[in-house]
Amino acid sequence: MKVCIIGNGGREHALAWKLHHSPSVTDVYVVPGNAGMASVATMVEIDWKHRETLMTWLVEYQIDLVVIGPELPLVEGLSDAIRAVGIPVFGPSKQASRLEGSKSFAKELMYRYEIPTAKYEVCKDVETGNSIIHQWGVPIVLKRDGLWGGKGVTICETFTEAEQVLEEILSSSEESVVIEEYMQGQELSLLSFVDGTHVLPMIGARDHKRLLDHDEGPNTGGMGAYAPVLELNDSLEQEIVDTMVKPIVKAMAEEGYPYIGCLYTGLMLTEEGPKVVEFNARFGDPETQVILPLLQSDLGDIMYATATGQLEGMTLEWSKQYAACVILASKGYPQQPLTGRSVIGDIHTMDTVSMVFHSGTAYERGHYVTQGGRVLGVVGVGDTLEQSLGHAYERVAMIDFEGQQYRKDIGKSSVGFCIHAQYRKNSIDKEYN
Ligand code: AMP
Ligand code: GLY
Repeated sequence: MKVCIIGNGGREHALAWKLHHSPSVTDVYVVPGNAGMASVATMVEIDWKHRETLMTWLVEYQIDLVVIGPELPLVEGLSDAIRAVGIPVFGPSKQASRLEGSKSFAKELMYRYEIPTAKYEVCKDVETGNSIIHQWGVPIVLKRDGLWGGKGVTICETFTEAEQVLEEILSSSEESVVIEEYMQGQELSLLSFVDGTHVLPMIGARDHKRLLDHDEGPNTGGMGAYAPVLELNDSLEQEIVDTMVKPIVKAMAEEGYPYIGCLYTGLMLTEEGPKVVEFNARFGDPETQVILPLLQSDLGDIMYATATGQLEGMTLEWSKQYAACVILASKGYPQQPLTGRSVIGDIHTMDTVSMVFHSGTAYERGHYVTQGGRVLGVVGVGDTLEQSLGHAYERVAMIDFEGQQYRKDIGKSSVGFCIHAQYRKNSIDKEYN
C-alpha cells in the first residue's frame, strides 16, 4: 500500500516512521514533510493548498491512502476534496472537523448530547463577558473561538487579568470568546481510531501544555508527553469511551457528518469525575510521539480500515513499555521563536531506547537549522516511566542549539504514582498467574 501523509511536524514524522515500519505499507510519501524525515519517507514538494496539483499527483502516483496530520487542512476541507477523487482518507470531513475548529460548536454539541464538560457561555461583547466573569469568579478560562494551535486559551487567576484578556480578544478580532468554568485536576489525552461508527481507543497519554517547569508560564502546543498513563485503568477507560467518545461519534453520525480519523479527547480528571476539555480532529502533538513507539499492531492496516469503515472487530496490541518525549523549543517560543540557529548533536539515530522526531528543522548548506518554535521531540523508551525519562533526557543532553529551551520535569509528578501502580499490577498479575 502507498500512503501519503500531509503535514510537516513532529507528529507527522512519528506517523511516517511508524508507517515505514508497517508490513502493509510499501511506500511512504510526505507532503511537504521536513528535514528529519528523509530516512523513512519520500518528501514531495507540493503545497497542499494547491489542490489541483496535489490531486493530480495523488492520482498519478496511485496513492492508496492519504493521512492528514494537522488541523488546518482538515478544517479547510482537504479530506473532502481527496475523497471526491476516490482515494480513501484518514481524517474527518470539513463539517466533522468543526469539532476542533470551533470551540462553541463542540461545546454546543457536548451539551446537547449530555457529554460531561465544563459549564460555558459564548460571548461577543465586553459587558456580558464581564458580568459572567464576576458571577462565576476566578480562576476562569477564556478561549478564542477558532484554531490557535493550543495558544488561544488563557486561564485567568484574577478579575483584572480576565477583564484584560476579554477586552483584548474582543477588540482584536471578529471572534467571540468562549468563557468556561475552571476545572481542577490532572489532564489526560485519549486518542481513538474512529471509522464513522466504530471506536478503537489507544493507550492514554499525558501532555505538558505549559512552557515552564511546575506547569508555569503560557500554554504552548505541548512541551512533552508520556504514555501510558496508569490512572487510565480499564474501568476509567470504559467510562470515558461510553460517556464521551461513543456519544460524540454517535452524535456526529446522527447530525449528518460522520467522524472518520483520529479523535483526540482531551480530559480533565476532576473530583466529580472525568470531563472533556476539548476534542481535536487529529492525532495530538507530542502525544503521537509517545503512543506510536508502543504500538505493536500494523498502523497501515488500522488506518486503512479506519478510512474505509472497517474497524469492527479490530484490536490493538501494545508493548508493555513506557515512552516519554521532551520537546526542545526555540528561544522565544511560543510568542516569537528565534529561528535559523544551527542544531548540533545526534538528531538522527532511531533505536529501541531513544529516537528523535523533527518538528521545526530545515537542512541548509550542509547544516540542520531551527525553523520553528518546537524544533525536536526527543523520545525515550523503557520498562518503567523513570527509565523512559532517563533515556529521553540522556539523549537531550547530546543535542544543542542556541537558545534551546525545554522542560526538566516531564513525567516527574507521575513517577511515584507509576511505581506504585506498577507494583500493584505486578502483585495482581502474580496472584492470578
Ligand atoms: P484547549 O485548547 O481547550 O484544550 O485548552 C488548552 C489547555 O488549557 C488545556 O489542555 C488545559 O490545560 C487548559 N484548559 C482549557 N480549558 C480548561 C478548563 N475549563 N479548566 C482548566 N483548564 C483548562
Ligand atoms: N498536544 C496537544 C494537541 O495536540 O492538541
